[in-house]
Formats: sequence, C-alpha cells, structure tokens
Amino acid sequence: MNTQVLASSGSSVDAGRDDRKTAESIKTGLTPFKDARITSSFKFAREVLRSPAMRQASSSADQMDMSKPDEISFFFLHGEAHKKRRVSVAPYFTPKAIVDRYIPLMHATMDRVIADFQMNGRGKIDDYSLELASDVTMEIVGLTETDRKALTRRIKTNMDANNSFDKRPFYRFIHDKVFGWYHNAQRMRRILELWKKDIVPAMEARRKEPRNDVISYMVQNNYSQKGIIIEVLTYAGAGVSTTREFMIMAAWHLRDNPALAERFLAGDEEDQFAIIEEILRIEPIAGYLYRKPDEDVPGTSEGTIPKGQLIGIDIRGVNSDTDVVGENPYAIDPDRARKMKIAGAWASFGDGPHRCPGAQVALHETRVFLDRLLRVPGYKMVNDPTMTWSMSTQGYELRDAIITCDKV
Ligand code: HEM
Repeated sequence: MNTQVLASSGSSVDAGRDDRKTAESIKTGLTPFKDARITSSFKFAREVLRSPAMRQASSSADQMDMSKPDEISFFFLHGEAHKKRRVSVAPYFTPKAIVDRYIPLMHATMDRVIADFQMNGRGKIDDYSLELASDVTMEIVGLTETDRKALTRRIKTNMDANNSFDKRPFYRFIHDKVFGWYHNAQRMRRILELWKKDIVPAMEARRKEPRNDVISYMVQNNYSQKGIIIEVLTYAGAGVSTTREFMIMAAWHLRDNPALAERFLAGDEEDQFAIIEEILRIEPIAGYLYRKPDEDVPGTSEGTIPKGQLIGIDIRGVNSDTDVVGENPYAIDPDRARKMKIAGAWASFGDGPHRCPGAQVALHETRVFLDRLLRVPGYKMVNDPTMTWSMSTQGYELRDAIITCDKV
C-alpha cells in the first residue's frame, strides 16, 4: 500500500500532497468573469455572502425583471421577497422530511439502479447518479404523478438544451444567431412537453389534495405557468445537475484511494459524511459565486467594498484558505474539519441568505449512493470519466465512466 493511501485514510497527511482531480483542467476549463474582483479568503467571502447589500451577479442577473418576484428563480431574489420564498421551502428540507421521505425514496431508487446494474454487469455511473438526483429533487418539487424514468429523461433533455453558453464563440454564433430560431423552438417544445406530461398532472393532483412540496405551494399561491416552469427548472439545475456530478466525483476519488473507500464502508454515518464533505471541499461543484453590492459596504476585513463592484467568490480558493483549513489544503483529510473545529461543508454550499437549502439532502444522497454501489459484489470503476466545464452551472461535468460488477 502506498503512502498516499495510508495518509488519506488516517490522520496524518504527506506535506504538499494534491489530491484534486480538477486541479489542471479548471485552469483552462473555467475562467472567472473578466471584470470581477476574485477572492479566495474564507473570511472575506463570508462577509460578502452574508451582507444584506449584496445582489446576485451571475450571468443573467442583470436581465431580471424584479417587478414580478413570482416569475423569478429565487436565486435572484433578495430581501423580503427572498426571505418569504425561503420560509416557504423550509419544510421540504427538515431532518424529518429527509429521514421520513427522501431516504426511503433514495433506497427505492438504488434498489432499481442496482437491479439494472447487476442484470447488465455494467453501466454508466453518470446515468445512475442522474436517476437518483432526479428522483429525489422531483419528489421535493412534487413532480410525482408520472413515470420517474420518463421524467428523468425529460429533465435531462431540458438541462442539456440550449447549452451554447458552454461552447466556443464560433459555435455560439452559429447556435444562437444562425439557428437561434430553431433551437428556441426546440427548447420551447421540450419545456411544453414537461409542462403537459409532468407539471399539469402534478398540479391537478395537488389541487385536490395539497402535499408538502413546491408544486403544492405554487398551486395554493396561484403562480403563473411561467413562474412554475422557472421554479421547476431552477430545481433541476440546482438539485439535479450539482448532486449528479458530485456523486461521480466522490466515487472516482474512492476508486483511486482504496484505504479511504475502506474507511468509508466501515464508517458510521458521521464518518461517511466527513469523508464526503472533505472530497467536496477540494472538488466543489460550484466554481465561482458572484455578487454586487447596491451600496457601499464598509468595515469588511478587506476594507470598504464600493457600490457596484463585482465580486467573484472562488469557492475552491476559499475552501483551501490555510487560515481556516490548516496545512496541506489540497490533500483529503477527513479529520480536518474536526481538528479545525469548523463545519465540514466549508463554502461548498455557499453562505448567507442564499446558502443551499438542499445541502443535507445532497450529502445524504451521496452517502446512500456510494454506500449502496460500492457494496455491489465485483463493483469496479473501469475508466476515468471525461471532464468538461459548464459556464452555466460554473461547475465540472463528468461523463462516460463505466462501472462493472458481477452479473446476476
Ligand atoms: C452537491 C450538491 C449541491 C451543491 C454543491 C450545491 C451548491 C449550492 C450553492 C453553492 C448554492 C448557493 C448559490 C449562491 O449563493 O449563489 C446553492 C443554492 C441553492 N441550492 Fe444547492 N447545491 C447542491 C444540491 C442541491 C439540492 C439537492 C437542492 C434541492 C433539491 C438544491 C437547491 C438549491 C436552491 C433552491 C438554491 C438557491 C437558494 C437561494 O437562492 O436562496 N441544491 N446550492
């Protein structure tokens, strides 16, 4: 057994070790917005994310019509309108909801996934992680009246659509300008399919009998068709794309670090979370969060932030700020958070009023996914996934890693 394996499962870590799989590829894959002041300071990032003067400043934030809060993804809301929306979703993310509703659902999905995996003896891990991420998120949203697999396909098609933002300028020109009318029509067709096949039946069921989910809330509060579609797509992006990718990344790390995998399988829930959160620390999904203050913000650890200054929070940088994470910031050390006496999620789920409401759901999902998959007899990840970067989610996308197991 090599020293790296020993070190990352135990408590001591080799000096200077770098376990990041994204370290090289992010240099060319994801560049921050040109005019942004980028920070890697944990303390300053917190001050920015917690300041009430800050507004979302990601790509499309400037184009939002703030006069209709019910037709804006709550990523972009602020102040009272944002608080109201957060209060409305809080019941879907309680520990009780996770234990009573989502964990049984996670296991039911994994039963299906594993049956399929064992029958074929092989599969693509990104298909399986998509299935789990979609099932759980759509339960929270309340799209439960249709066949789950068909719904997952439609969610995926909608997520993949109109992604020219990721491509090089020439491709973007061709996609948006020359064929723009066609792609928009295609996109509209896909969205309307989701509306008719999944959203409308879910709304009708909840009009008769409201439940504890996002669609019930929107039906009771008379959201428009546009408002409902925006919310569903917000959750598809925020809950499905993120967790789908992270589960693959975590499985990849465990494949390359057998001692860590061994510790994961032997560990209790707390230790498993510590391992998952530590992988997420060095490989966060979100690359940069952007904010802009609508007034001067005095008194931060880096002085006054002038009104209108675009700030980019480099989550990778913040998560490896040695002032808070200690030494060897790029090495996986599951005992780090305990030693540093800090919550293990660091900045991976953001901070302040927009901090991810789905953080606990995502961690449980990843834990169940890995715990179930790694125990399948003969389980093996055969090849590395390919890695690309998405400008729209500001994160990595991992595809085409084949996993195999004993056939039954
Ligand atoms: C590993 C998985 C996940 C990661 C890394 C992640 C990360 C994040 C981050 C960094 C933010 C803050 C964005 C900002 O401040 O600009 C966020 C917000 C959000 N996340 Fe997650 N997320 C994950 C999973 C989920 C899941 C499973 C759900 C729901 C099912 C979810 C729903 C949301 C929503 C609705 C917001 C917007 C909150 C607001 O603006 O108030 N996320 N997420």
